Amino acid sequence: MSDAERPGAQEWVPDGGGVRALRRAAEDCRGCELWRDATQVVFSQGPSSARMMLVGEQPGDREDLEGEPFVGPAGRMLSEALDAADIDRDDVYLTNAVKHFRFERRGKRRIHEKPGVAHIEACSPWLDAELFTVRPKVVVALGATAARALLHRTVRIGEIRGTVIEAADSRGIPLVVTVHPSSLLRLRDRAEREAAFRAFVDDLERAVEVAG
Ligand code: URA
Ligand code: SF4
Repeated sequence: MSDAERPGAQEWVPDGGGVRALRRAAEDCRGCELWRDATQVVFSQGPSSARMMLVGEQPGDREDLEGEPFVGPAGRMLSEALDAADIDRDDVYLTNAVKHFRFERRGKRRIHEKPGVAHIEACSPWLDAELFTVRPKVVVALGATAARALLHRTVRIGEIRGTVIEAADSRGIPLVVTVHPSSLLRLRDRAEREAAFRAFVDDLERAVEVAG
């Protein structure tokens, strides 16, 4: 089938076989140049029967090394917030808008670099296939990159966070946009950080309500 007949899909994205087949196929993805410097693809974590899908930005340094999403500092913050919202992390499907780590080398360190719109668009067939396969009751975009990937337009997180966007995609799955957990890590003031954490938890609780 040609790409014209499967809008949004790429021939290297399998359309059967579940998440396992997607994960395996993504190991060979050359959809953009990010595979080249990354250690490995970081696909997703969690059951394909999940009612809630959480979408992050891209794997970080730890995730790149371990091959699992949200295992570094941002992941710990996310786990804490899920706990506070009474959500079992094992019950949610966790993935990223971009599946390879983008970074800049500074000496021995690898410094996280935001994925560009071209990377987000190149990687979106994977996210699309995940949505199609998992069919969650609600999707949560963690930050601007995930929101861009899911809405195909640039949004201001401050303006739309916490709101429920009905039928964000053609499948009619509602979307809740919130902040990225790493934004909480950057807050130095304790009161500010606590308030931001509370607001993040509120958004996750809203997503639970939407999932029903
Ligand atoms: N940040 C993300 O957006 N995703 C991860 O998997 C880890 C950190
Ligand atoms: Fe493919 Fe996405 Fe990796 Fe780019 S970042 S090579 S599109 S899996």
